[in-house]
Amino acid sequence: MNEDIPQLPNYDESSLDAAFATLAEEVRAETSAPVDVEAFRLRWLGRKQGRLKLISDAWLKNAPPEARKPLGMRFNDLKQRIEVALTDAAAAPARSAAKAGIDITLPSTVRAPGIEHPLLKTMHEIVAVFHHLGYSTALGPQVESDFYNFEALNFPPNHPARDTQDTLVLAGQQKRPSRDRLLMRTHTSPVQIRTMIAQAPPIRIVVPGKVHRNDAADATHSPVFHQVEGLCVDSNITFSDLKGTLDHAMKALFGSGVKTRFFPSFFPFTEPSADVQISCIFCGGEGCRKCKQSGWIELLGCGMVDPAVFASVDEQRVAQGKPAAYDPAKVTGFAFGMGVERIAMILHGVSEIGQFYSGDMRFLEQFA
Ligand code: DAH
Repeated sequence: MNEDIPQLPNYDESSLDAAFATLAEEVRAETSAPVDVEAFRLRWLGRKQGRLKLISDAWLKNAPPEARKPLGMRFNDLKQRIEVALTDAAAAPARSAAKAGIDITLPSTVRAPGIEHPLLKTMHEIVAVFHHLGYSTALGPQVESDFYNFEALNFPPNHPARDTQDTLVLAGQQKRPSRDRLLMRTHTSPVQIRTMIAQAPPIRIVVPGKVHRNDAADATHSPVFHQVEGLCVDSNITFSDLKGTLDHAMKALFGSGVKTRFFPSFFPFTEPSADVQISCIFCGGEGCRKCKQSGWIELLGCGMVDPAVFASVDEQRVAQGKPAAYDPAKVTGFAFGMGVERIAMILHGVSEIGQFYSGDMRFLEQFA
């Protein structure tokens, strides 16, 4: 590798200076760009074939005695230069990292293993309870048409029941017929309609998903939140099945000690409709601040599927060339819908809904 040993024409001081200056320049040029440090070291300082060794052997061999000392001094000086260049070259990667603002002396960052977000975790827990009962998961779009979100669920256009779900509508829809206008779904109930149009009974589905309402955010409300919907349709499904199913689900979620009770309510798509309350899990029903001294916490809506819903489903099925399959004289069903945030807040004693969306690791790590 040390092909060319330069000639030394003369041993006077100025010839020596010129010869060593050339060698020093060679070293400088070789290390002016990033180099393979080990290859550079071998090339210059290799014990047997190193350039320094070969040159000093060649030059010392013919040197007159009085030139040996000045030669030796210059070789030592050159060797030092090479060593400095070597140290510099070895430190270059760290220097350029530092220039980029990276301190490579710091311990490396260890990435914590990920955990399920508490909302997803709660959603999965709810869904799992129903999977164990033989339900499967169905999903639907968040951008939904007025037909699926309202009309087919027996909210007629302009009906005041729509006011209970303040809706975010998509711009530029005015030219479309009312039922085709797009909006952000206000609940997961439209997936009931999509599923029944697609398949005949029996049906047992749970529908987890994100929903949107034009609500101001406060401690318990968020314009974007999550629901889990349920639908069971078959022959001979009764209100007792609904009560038994939801009573079991609430015990599975909150503990076998909780009691449930059903209060009359109204939803356009169920008749009769009910609100489900569970005995307060904080005070066991005694009455406390959390349950406003009532001993009960209101948790979800439910009811028996309204025959008007079956009628609009069958109308669509027939329009799509499918057989009608939802004759209310032959099939009945129940449905329910619950808010994931609300359940997660009760389960974990969270009092501000915004904590779920803040991305604050101190909050989220508590669920690890
Ligand atoms: N969709 C209703 C809401 O968002 C909740 C609900 C109530 C769903 C009763 C149902 C039901 O399926 O039967 O307020």
